[in-house]
Amino acid sequence: MKLELKTCVIRPFNEADAESVQHYADNRKVWMCLRDFFPHPYSLEDAKAFIKLVSQENPLKTFAIATPTEAIGSIGLRPGVDVHRKSAELGYWLAEPFWGRGIMSEAVTAFVATAFDRFDLIRIYAELFANNRASARVLEKAGFAFEGRLRANVIKNEEILDSLMFGRIRNEVVLDEVDRLK
Ligand SMILES: CC(C)(COP(=O)(O)OP(=O)(O)OC[C@H]1O[C@@H](n2cnc3c(N)ncnc32)[C@H](O)[C@@H]1OP(=O)(O)O)[C@@H](O)C(=O)NCCC(=O)NCCS
Repeated sequence: MKLELKTCVIRPFNEADAESVQHYADNRKVWMCLRDFFPHPYSLEDAKAFIKLVSQENPLKTFAIATPTEAIGSIGLRPGVDVHRKSAELGYWLAEPFWGRGIMSEAVTAFVATAFDRFDLIRIYAELFANNRASARVLEKAGFAFEGRLRANVIKNEEILDSLMFGRIRNEVVLDEVDRLK
């Protein structure tokens, strides 16, 4: 998958991305919004291991969000198993210097549309910490529905938090996505 968008490119990771991934992922504000498997501090070895791991996916389901010169984030799907096999969890992060420019709203919208085209999925969902208003807004703008609050579902940085479930169903009628991005 390679998507040339207005604000960024979504493309496979390659080994040369390790330094920019390490540089931008090594950020406590990013880590605070993600699960603890996302390392902190984030070393060059962590970046290399991550890129090696996702490059082995077949088909690829984890991609770089990039400028023409460097990787500035990641977006990917984690498919469910068993009765959840037509469902996948969406995850993403963006480098802090690039926040607030509409990049992730555009990336999630385009990535999800393409994922429904390419993968045999009927549902894509995201579960975010309830204090992550920016991510909730990204999902709303990408046509996801708020499905519920999971109370005291998370412990992050020793704080117990609710989490929010957002989902989008294949072929769901949503507002025109181009209009959403205006
Ligand atoms: C969440 C994140 C992906 C947002 O990416 P982004 O490219 O900055 O988001 P966008 O610029 O596309 O849009 C963000 C929207 O949220 C809004 N927003 C930003 N910060 C906000 C806040 N603190 N409260 C409410 N809304 C906020 C913006 O105004 C914008 O909405 P608008 O277009 O209606 O004005 C980015 O901040 C990030 O990577 N955070 C750390 C990792 C993370 O949270 N990952 C997701 C885990 S579920």
